[in-house]
Order: sequence, then C-alpha cells, then structure tokens
Amino acid sequence: MINVTPSGQGLGARVENIDLSQPLSAENYKTIEGLLGKYGVLCFPKQQLSSQQLKDYSSNFGSLEINVANVYQEPGLPEVMILSNKKVDGKPIGLGDAGQDWHTDMSYSKMIAFTNVLYGIEIPRRNGEPLGSTEFSNMRAAYLALPEDLKTKLDGMTVLHDFNKFWENMRKQPGSTRAPLTEEQRKAKPPVSHPIFLTHPITGEKVLYANPGYSIRINELPEEESDRILAFLFEHQLQPQFRYRHRWTEGDVLMWDNMGTIHNAIADYKPDEPRYIKRCQVMADRYFPQAA
Ligand code: SIN
Repeated sequence: MINVTPSGQGLGARVENIDLSQPLSAENYKTIEGLLGKYGVLCFPKQQLSSQQLKDYSSNFGSLEINVANVYQEPGLPEVMILSNKKVDGKPIGLGDAGQDWHTDMSYSKMIAFTNVLYGIEIPRRNGEPLGSTEFSNMRAAYLALPEDLKTKLDGMTVLHDFNKFWENMRKQPGSTRAPLTEEQRKAKPPVSHPIFLTHPITGEKVLYANPGYSIRINELPEEESDRILAFLFEHQLQPQFRYRHRWTEGDVLMWDNMGTIHNAIADYKPDEPRYIKRCQVMADRYFPQAA
C-alpha cells in the first residue's frame, strides 16, 4: 500500500512503498494522478531505475517530449534527457543550466506538459547540505489569492508563451554554452497562446497559467498594461506561502504537475560539484487530445 507524507508546505508530498521500476497498476496510476493534482510535487525516494525504466514509468502518464534543442539525450532513448554540469574530455554531457529560472515546462507548446519525471543520480553537497534544489510554487493557491477584481478582469483572457524568451535569458548567463536557436528550431516552436486561468483537468479547479520564463504578453490588453499586469503576476505567484523547496537525495524520483505549479532549479553549486539527473517530460495529451 502506497504511503503518502505531505510536506506541510505550500505543496509537495513524499510517496513511499512503491517501486517505480515495476509496471504501474491501474490502481496506482489513479492514486498517483490524484496525488499530483492534490500536492503538485511528489518525491519517490530510494528508487533504482535504468533509463529504459524511467522512460517506461513516465510513458504511463502521456506522450513523452523529445526536446526541441535535440541535445544531451540518452543514446538510443531521446525521450530521456540528461541534466548535468559534468564534463567528459572537457565536453558537457548534459544540459547544465536546465530550468534555472521560474517557469512551467512546455507552456510555449500548443500541447502543454502534464508532468516532469526526474531521477536524481548525483547530487552536489557542501558541508553535508544538498545543493541544486528544485523550488516550486502552487498556482492554484496563487489564483485563489488574486484580488477579485483582477480575477474578473482577466477571466477569459489568454497569454502568449515563447520558448525563445527563456532560451535567450539563459544565454545571457555567464558561461552559458547555449547557441542561439536556429531558424529551424524557432519555426518548430513558434509562440503559442493559452488561457491565463486554466481549469486543471485533474482537480477541476482554476490555476494561474502564466510564468516568468516563457510568458510574454496578455493578448487582449494593450502592451503597456499587459507588461504591468504580467510583472504583478510574476511577483504575486512567488509568495513564500505558495512555495516548496525540494532538497534532493540520490535515488529520488521527483514528479511534478506542470499545469498547477511553476518551478526553478537553484544554481547554487559550482562546476566541480557534480549534479547528474535524468529527465522525461510527459505531455498533457491525455487531458487535451484536441490540442494534439
Ligand atoms: C527542469 O526545469 O526540468 C529542471 C529542474 C532541475 O534540474 O532541478
């Protein structure tokens, strides 16, 4: 029987007594889906997964994304991406700066993302404390806490999301190895619009679906007003009471709901403090088949 311990913070729960290397039963699938809706972020500690098993487990929840940048993939398994600052023969073996700003994965895509599944293999530590935590913020709570007049004003509006915004922001960071996106890569991911308040398909509740990483414009407002309201929303959605910080341990599988949360990978470790994580990104095609 699965054992669930809520974090007691703005979101997050620890889920024990389940081996993710084994086929997932229909009952456990339903339980995990419900927990993702309720807690937003789930940590499954002490897992031992091959890349194939990580892919197989993740595939239970929807189609897997192959990243548009097409780099740092597990050989033969392009759905498994390597997030790491490690180098071999001076060359990076993973995407070293993945997710290092607040964002929601794949909000720039017509088909949005449901869940990310990350498997922590090497976690940097200093003085016994884990580094490279992943932080989350709860977008259901952020929606509920909005001023009522703003909720009413924005209801039915849409936000434009652009993959290039995050990419360019990362390129500006010191030491970035990211090349500008090619014309072909940009064409593969043109900016897309989504409702500013999304009805969450698991909980049926409204969530704020805008994030500093990719959101560039509220389509229905003049540019200046859109900029002002987006700046307000970006500050509003990061209030401490909405937040949870995951401190990694080797063997953790961390799974989160991208529709109801935003996240940020904290870059507080140095190049000689290795972090090595494998990731699958699961699309929300189970919930929004019409967007496929
Ligand atoms: C991500 O944004 O998917 C990466 C998060 C992390 O590496 O902690």
